[in-house]
Amino acid sequence: MVLVVNFGGQYAHLISRRLRELNIYTEVVSHRSLKSVIAQKNVKALILSGGPASVYDNEEDIKNLDFILNLNIPVLGICYGHQLLAKLVSGDVKRGKGEFGRTEIKILKDDPLFKGWEQKENVWMSHRDYVAELPDIAEVLAVSERDYIAAFKLKNKPIYGVQFHPEVHHTAKGRKLLNNFIEVSGIKKRWKLKDIVEDIINYISRTIEPNAKALAAISGGIDSTVAAVLVKKIIGDRLVPILVDHGLFRKGEVEESIKCLRKIGLEPVVVDARERFLKKLWGTRDCEERRRIIGNTFAEIFSELAEEDSNIKYLVQGTTYPDVIESGHVEKADKIKSHHNVAALPSWLKLKVVEPLKFLYKDEVRRIAKIIGVPNEIISKHPFPGPGFAVRVIGVFTPEKLEISRNASKILEDELRKENLYNNVWQAFAVVGDDTWVGIKGDSRDVGYIVTLRIVVSEDAMTADWYRIPYDVLDRVSRRIVSELDRVTMVTYAISSKPPSTIEPC
Ligand code: XMP
Repeated sequence: MVLVVNFGGQYAHLISRRLRELNIYTEVVSHRSLKSVIAQKNVKALILSGGPASVYDNEEDIKNLDFILNLNIPVLGICYGHQLLAKLVSGDVKRGKGEFGRTEIKILKDDPLFKGWEQKENVWMSHRDYVAELPDIAEVLAVSERDYIAAFKLKNKPIYGVQFHPEVHHTAKGRKLLNNFIEVSGIKKRWKLKDIVEDIINYISRTIEPNAKALAAISGGIDSTVAAVLVKKIIGDRLVPILVDHGLFRKGEVEESIKCLRKIGLEPVVVDARERFLKKLWGTRDCEERRRIIGNTFAEIFSELAEEDSNIKYLVQGTTYPDVIESGHVEKADKIKSHHNVAALPSWLKLKVVEPLKFLYKDEVRRIAKIIGVPNEIISKHPFPGPGFAVRVIGVFTPEKLEISRNASKILEDELRKENLYNNVWQAFAVVGDDTWVGIKGDSRDVGYIVTLRIVVSEDAMTADWYRIPYDVLDRVSRRIVSELDRVTMVTYAISSKPPSTIEPC
């Protein structure tokens, strides 16, 4: 087993996932329980994750980790982990301007860790502090454009630090580096996706009591559908699939979802709650507040259904890892957004939550979906946030702006499908805020909204880049939006990556 030590980074679990892709069994542990886990388990190597803290935030904590240097197993420190190792060997970690996004590094020394890398490579960085100097027991393997130490190794031990993130997709040779680290560590690759499915099935059988029923809140997206199908395999008709229409889905989506779900034997009870949700949302400004309102309203509906049938004891949700991580449910992690299906469900909800996919990433869920026969229409659909278009309206939430973002998104999706580009991107949608732009429509002055198109490529939503859309397609989408949507006078294109941006606007 390789242990990933979590310092609360957004990517700790991504590291673990990358290793699982290499068929390596991993567990993620908090740095606080590291010592006891190492004493109990057969740990062959350690990877120290990144994290939002600075090595200067908690110097006592850091001193207590110096046993890491004497474990006699290979260690790879990533980002914060890299700075931490430098600090443990009395290197100099400084506060700097930071490096964010794609950055070029130069390899200075041949080392098995960089097998297959060119002398200059692009990597993904996301840090402020940096390692400025190291003692003689360490050697610098690579530097960044700013001349910060991008990688180092202790001379007499397989202990490495890299400032960049090899686990994210945007570090093109990151997987190679992780694989090299595994080879340096001499670990055998034996673990498979099939094992994950077995683990999930065992978890469901262990968790749901005999005779109890479970509500499965299905949105028609892949996560909730896969979660429901897996639970249904174990509890059969004791699974009650419901589809709550909150009025925030894409245009036409509810009808399409029902058709697809029927194909796989899930006949959802459709709860038309559009008015109930929307009347509480009109006029709100803050997306976190909207998430709370939506979470509460979902919970009220689930509770009412459970009151009607006392055998309903569980709620099945399609929560995946990014939802958990970005909601700040990992020790030391900063909360980015409280994704409703984890954070915003109120504590009074009596149903026990069953989250079979909680430790999986989207592409793993997609692979499982194929194995269990989920229709392709669902598998290939872009991911969609639980609060739907409530997080795609910036500023005051109004019926007009909701309709603009839904309609503009439909135009964008239709054009991408026509051009066969839909499947090349992770998500594509349109958002609208309160800003306006003066236009001329029908020879007269017209003040209308600005619609921003957001199209991203990503592998797992943990990081994302903006999509280099062909200009002619962008032009067609933009012209259709301003001509078909009366109240829109300007279309813009969002071109920031994640990080530092996020995918949804709020
Ligand atoms: P961000 O905007 O945080 O989004 O970069 C990462 C992924 O999560 C989705 N997302 C949400 N999903 N509830 C959800 O279930 C939410 O409140 C929420 N906010 C963002 C987003 O669409 C992207 O795929």
